[in-house]
Amino acid sequence: MMWCGISFFAVLLVTIPPGLHAGHNQVQEVLDKVTAIQGNLTTDLGLIKERTENIPQRLSAIDKKLVDLQKTCTSRQTCTDRLLKLDNGYYLAFRITPGIQSSAYQKFVAVGKSDDPDCLVVQNVPEGCKTTDGRRFCDRHYRSRLIDLWDQLPILRVRVGVYKDNVEQRFFEFNGKNSNYDNWFSQSRLIKSSYTDLSAATRPQPNFFSIAGDHRHGRHFFINNNYGGCNADAGWLVVSDRPAPYPTCFWQSVASKSYPLIFFSSADAKSNFNNRTTVGFADTLVISIKLDNTQ
Ligand SMILES: *[C@@H]1O[C@H](CO)[C@@H](O)[C@H](O)[C@H]1NC(C)=O
Ligand SMILES: *[C@@H]1O[C@H](CO)[C@@H](O)[C@H](O)[C@H]1NC(C)=O
Repeated sequence: MMWCGISFFAVLLVTIPPGLHAGHNQVQEVLDKVTAIQGNLTTDLGLIKERTENIPQRLSAIDKKLVDLQKTCTSRQTCTDRLLKLDNGYYLAFRITPGIQSSAYQKFVAVGKSDDPDCLVVQNVPEGCKTTDGRRFCDRHYRSRLIDLWDQLPILRVRVGVYKDNVEQRFFEFNGKNSNYDNWFSQSRLIKSSYTDLSAATRPQPNFFSIAGDHRHGRHFFINNNYGGCNADAGWLVVSDRPAPYPTCFWQSVASKSYPLIFFSSADAKSNFNNRTTVGFADTLVISIKLDNTQ
């Protein structure tokens, strides 16, 4: 009994202290891990909270967009299946046909007057109107209902391209976020362009940079650097959009060409619009939009 007791204590003395010591280390390790996991959990919870907070508002915004879009649909096919996608991956919103003796601007601002009124279904529209090829027949300025739906769409970018023989000669690309159908076409929203002397930061600012342009002179979709008498007029882009006669400059009328005419600088920078060696005529001007697919 006694021997047993002694050897029991001896065993305790010999074995417990190192055991206790090892146990203490293990407990400390576990505690450290728990602390680390707690720390990570707190961080993760914070992130999750941050990411989920706005979900109800975001869902209801998406819902609203879908309901609005569905209102424009008469069948079950989704509207986005019917968008006309260009080679650049953008959707066709507007396309100007020169020479047809009707104002491109008036068509652009004609709310509700679109060529795809029934849920973006394009009906009775010549095939050429759905392309960037200005050599193909088109009897109108093609206007998609996308322009009327502008406020409801998650528009990321808007591109204006001037084409000749189906080749984009020059372009302007705009930030379309939170824009309306008209105000995206502005210097402050310009992200990039073909020109070395034109950006959102260009100073002095162009004297015109808007779709409405200078209505008095029938100059729409107008990006112009300066006036100063007809001989001085210089800029990057203009749609001469009214029939003669009206108060204007000789550079704006071209023999044997009816309105509208699409003038653009064919140089790397702005051109004097009188200079026919650095000013080109486009066979179409195309406005296309890129949607934010993540929304
Ligand atoms: C805590 O998070 C970091 C970074 O993600 C990770 O490397 C580490 O293993 C995590 N710790 C625990 C205990 O999960
Ligand atoms: C037209 O532009 C070219 C190239 O910049 C220039 O060399 C020429 O002098 C200009 N012509 C006129 C009439 O201004």
